[in-house]
Amino acid sequence: MPSTRISVADTLRDHEVLITGANGFVGKVVLALLLDHFSDFKHLHILMRGKRGVSPRERFEKDVLSAPCLKPVVARTDPAVLTDKITLHTGDVSAPNCGFSDETIAMMKGRVSLIVNIAGLVEFTPPVDESFRSNVDGAESVLSVAKTLDAGLVHVSTCFVCGESEGLVEEDEPIVGYYPRRKGQSDNAFRARDEVDYMRARIREIRGTAMTPDKETKQKLTDLGVQRAKQWGWVNTYTYTKSLGEQLIASEPGLRYTIVRPAIVEAALELPFPGWVEGGRTAAPLVMMAMQGLRHWPVREDAPMEVVPVDQVAAAIIMAGVLLLNGESAEVYQLATADRNPVYFGQIIRWINHEYIKDNKKLRIFNPGVVVMSPEVAKSRGAMVSRKLATIYEFLTDVRQFAQQKKLPGAKRLAKLGNNIRMITRQLSIREAALELYQPFLYDNRFIFESENIRAGHARLSEDEQKKLPWWPERIRWRQYWTVNELRGIQKWVEGESTKAYSFKL
Ligand SMILES: NC(=O)c1ccc[n+]([C@@H]2O[C@H](COP(=O)([O-])OP(=O)(O)OC[C@H]3O[C@@H](n4cnc5c(N)ncnc54)[C@H](OP(=O)(O)O)[C@@H]3O)[C@@H](O)[C@H]2O)c1
Repeated sequence: MPSTRISVADTLRDHEVLITGANGFVGKVVLALLLDHFSDFKHLHILMRGKRGVSPRERFEKDVLSAPCLKPVVARTDPAVLTDKITLHTGDVSAPNCGFSDETIAMMKGRVSLIVNIAGLVEFTPPVDESFRSNVDGAESVLSVAKTLDAGLVHVSTCFVCGESEGLVEEDEPIVGYYPRRKGQSDNAFRARDEVDYMRARIREIRGTAMTPDKETKQKLTDLGVQRAKQWGWVNTYTYTKSLGEQLIASEPGLRYTIVRPAIVEAALELPFPGWVEGGRTAAPLVMMAMQGLRHWPVREDAPMEVVPVDQVAAAIIMAGVLLLNGESAEVYQLATADRNPVYFGQIIRWINHEYIKDNKKLRIFNPGVVVMSPEVAKSRGAMVSRKLATIYEFLTDVRQFAQQKKLPGAKRLAKLGNNIRMITRQLSIREAALELYQPFLYDNRFIFESENIRAGHARLSEDEQKKLPWWPERIRWRQYWTVNELRGIQKWVEGESTKAYSFKL
């Protein structure tokens, strides 16, 4: 390894960078770190698409520059950096050439030497065509622009492309031809290109000519993704399509690339400020359920929760780009914590449960602690509770009808009570569905992602730049992180309509 350190500041001063997905949870923190610590960068190009009649420019102003995580950073940034050194381009990664015009491509050629593709669809089981658009067509289109511009490509994927797993997932597993049920390197059953062609044909067949698929067609597309992912051993459509995206990139001759695979990205440890979190998709529903006092959990005690704070992920993405530009990158950077500093589901749930009951004497009596169980036991327990609720509901309905017939008082209150029981039953089934969706992560598998490459990359920076781009998962104090950064972060920034469904007390 060379003895001189790599300079992030110097590298970014010399190279123009194109970023996709900059308005997402991870992308905004990447932008915040660049503006806060490396505002001497040469030039940033940002790809954004319009949405629901809102133009990319309006989205950039409102959703990016004015977002809570960026607002304070923007306020202390020299306005000239924003006006002179950031160019916003309208585009869509799922379109050929990312939707860039020939003029834009010509303008960027010879200028942009790095593309950071953060764009992706982070939904576990959407209709498969939607997942393909962002995660497969997107990877293909971005790699083709990278080739045209002769730029390096940092592609953000996910650790969970490994699919079903039981223990350590190494970083040097060959990417091309990988599928979770592969029987060794000589097993050539999975070819990404053939799989993509097959799926595109199936999607066309199911969608037909309709511009917008109806409910039934969407369900068919959802089922197709789930079935195809499961067949090869991926736990959902998301990880299957992310793996396909990686494989297209890794099989492209002559492309300079590195693949960055975060584990589950959650609240910021420090930057731009502790507890910044957005989206409420990955761990948030689980945290919400724990925060609302759910006691019975279908989780494995020995399975680590592979979570990584968003600021460390953003720092690692920047590092990977700088290492690539300096010709020193690894092929894959897994960004996870359990190989050095594991934290287990059982612990996390107990910590959050403790936060929930600690200030409430009544709750301490009725909620005497978390019970860990298998999904089968949890399901039969859920079914029993639902049956009991149905019996109560029927009884209440009978009494209410009797009260109405006899013109007795209290019918209104009984109707209200009945509605509450129905609501609780509905919420219970939503919770059960959520737990089932998470079962591959909570119970069926055990993931520990080797994250050596980023540690080695981080060590190549000066001490000062290491602080600006922190990668120190071994220093995270998990109890503090889960009960303050994550819990308070979710309460402040996420809790709302999307998580209300999980929020009744058992
Ligand atoms: N969050 C996690 O826990 C996690 C974990 C591991 C890996 N990752 C990966 O990290 C990346 C960012 O995730 P995130 O959590 O920041 O997700 P996010 O908040 O949903 O952001 C996704 C971004 O991708 C953009 N995008 C999606 N499809 C696009 C398209 N066709 N054209 C242009 N832009 C498109 C979105 O733009 P619009 O607003 O226009 O849709 C948005 O900016 C993803 O690639 C994801 O797979 C995330």
